[in-house]
Amino acid sequence: MSEGDESAALTELAKRRGFFFGSSEAYGGVGGFYTYGPQGAALKSNVEEAWRERFAVQEGNLEIEAPTIMPEPVFEASGHLDGFDDMLVECAECGESHRADHLIEDNSELEDAETLSPEEAAEKIADLGLVCPTCGADLAGQSVEDFNLMFETNIGPGSSTPGYLRPETAQGIFVEFPRIKEYARNSLPFGVTQVGRAYRNEISPRKSIVRTREFTQAELEHFIDPERDEADLSAVEDVEVLLYPATEQEADGGDYVETTIGEAVEDGIIGNAWLGYFLGIAQEWYETVGVDMDRFRFRQHLAGERAHYSSDCWDAESEVDGDWIEIAGFSYRSDYDLSKHGEYGDDDFTVFQQYDEPKTVERAVVDPDMATLGPEFGAQAADVAEALETLAERDPDAFDADEVTLDVDGEEITVDADVANFSVETQTEAGEHITPHVVEPSFGIDRTVYTLLAHAYETDEVDGEARSYLSLSPSVAPTNVGVFPLVSNVDELVDLADDVAEELRAAGFAVVYDDSGSIGRRYRRQDEVGTPFCITIDRDGLEGDGGDTVTIRERDSGKQVRLPVDDLVGTLVGLRAGTASFDDVLDENEVVEA
Ligand code: GAP
Repeated sequence: MSEGDESAALTELAKRRGFFFGSSEAYGGVGGFYTYGPQGAALKSNVEEAWRERFAVQEGNLEIEAPTIMPEPVFEASGHLDGFDDMLVECAECGESHRADHLIEDNSELEDAETLSPEEAAEKIADLGLVCPTCGADLAGQSVEDFNLMFETNIGPGSSTPGYLRPETAQGIFVEFPRIKEYARNSLPFGVTQVGRAYRNEISPRKSIVRTREFTQAELEHFIDPERDEADLSAVEDVEVLLYPATEQEADGGDYVETTIGEAVEDGIIGNAWLGYFLGIAQEWYETVGVDMDRFRFRQHLAGERAHYSSDCWDAESEVDGDWIEIAGFSYRSDYDLSKHGEYGDDDFTVFQQYDEPKTVERAVVDPDMATLGPEFGAQAADVAEALETLAERDPDAFDADEVTLDVDGEEITVDADVANFSVETQTEAGEHITPHVVEPSFGIDRTVYTLLAHAYETDEVDGEARSYLSLSPSVAPTNVGVFPLVSNVDELVDLADDVAEELRAAGFAVVYDDSGSIGRRYRRQDEVGTPFCITIDRDGLEGDGGDTVTIRERDSGKQVRLPVDDLVGTLVGLRAGTASFDDVLDENEVVEA
């Protein structure tokens, strides 16, 4: 399909067949909000479940569910209040707002316009002679401003307690770290996952569910001691990946690097083994749920592109309509988040790490003479004593002088060194408190759904008729099985079809029962929503020697076999889990000519 066609066909199919559509259309609609219809909600939920299974269950991680609204101090600490901005340019003529970096990228060769400052972006807009995409007015001379993407609200009546809808699920995990670490028995490394809604007041939402204002993230925060915890790459070292490192993006004629995770980490292309580990399992997971691996890559962030908390970051990107879409980010967040919450919050965001052997250390200590400090400093005396302790830890040499100078709440105070009772003690320590580092795989579920639909969308011809179908993986397809009695006026056929549908539903399959229209029409309806298997109950299947039989048809090939009803559940379980292929089923059963 040519560029643009894939998205257009997908959006049309999505609305017509109940995958997703713009929300609140009865009230004119509002940009950046989408409702998932019956097919889409089931597909999305299956993708979330597949993610949980791989990244929470199989990795042995802890899953939590935190609120979506959090108080302002959380985002002061996290840096979102100050720095979670996009560049906004407003059209003087029609008042429409646009994202400046996107306008520049869409109209030039530049691929990293978000690294420009607002002033540079304004200059670029003028140099390129860009016009408002809505009304065509010249944008030269318009200022470019930073626009904070968080939705603000008030918690309770009045405006004294501002809150924000979380822009990432991650903060819910970081803020609850002091309690979660107890559940992990204070033992690093451990991972915490969360699947839930995030909110960003995007300046210009676009490409349907690709850039919305409310979306679902599936995030894993993996907490490590960077000095001790090494990633075990044995499970992923041979996983083949297509990498687009920052150096290649910046080089003239730079190219992809086709390699394995093991080699990429060894060669330093992926600078951190933990990131390598998560890229490896992500590559495998995306393949399992049905992303076309010929349209998938990992791209490293350029220095200016990284979020404020990140020291290295790779994006998983899928290609749709000739554009690369970021579907997940893999970031080394160091100790940024926990340190910040430790600084701003009232709790302990560290973990006590026991040494292998106790260590003997010399430690500078003070024992302030409160009988002197009390009368001299009154209510401030305790703060002065605390400042003396801090100074002893930070700069023991300061106590060599007769007087020491302290900063107490911004005020400079001088005290006689003698009142500190300074000494150096030899102590035995069993361990130390460290602030864990964080490695974060952060998946966008909506963009994964979009990619799966785009990569699964196929057209061909059956019996001289055009057909469009979704070759979705049986592991995530919204409907697992279609059940069709060939005719609806033969009681025995209808009874058997009812029994088959009931048995499959009881076994956990999503079943569509369809007895209307020609069998070809019924297949087409299911092909279009990606139902991988359809079962037809016909007269030939009634009361054979070995009991009743039915035919099962595979969506992509249209091939069919006849098999005993008693084998149906077991066969479909294997096909859905991917432990059996339809070729295996063809080998083991009587093939039916379509
Ligand atoms: N905690 C890290 C974080 O939030 P991010 O790269 O900003 O990182 C992670 O977001 C993923 O969330 C992205 O890779 C993307 O798939 C998804 N995402 C971000 N903004 C989105 C939006 N406006 N609409 C839909 N998905 C979005």
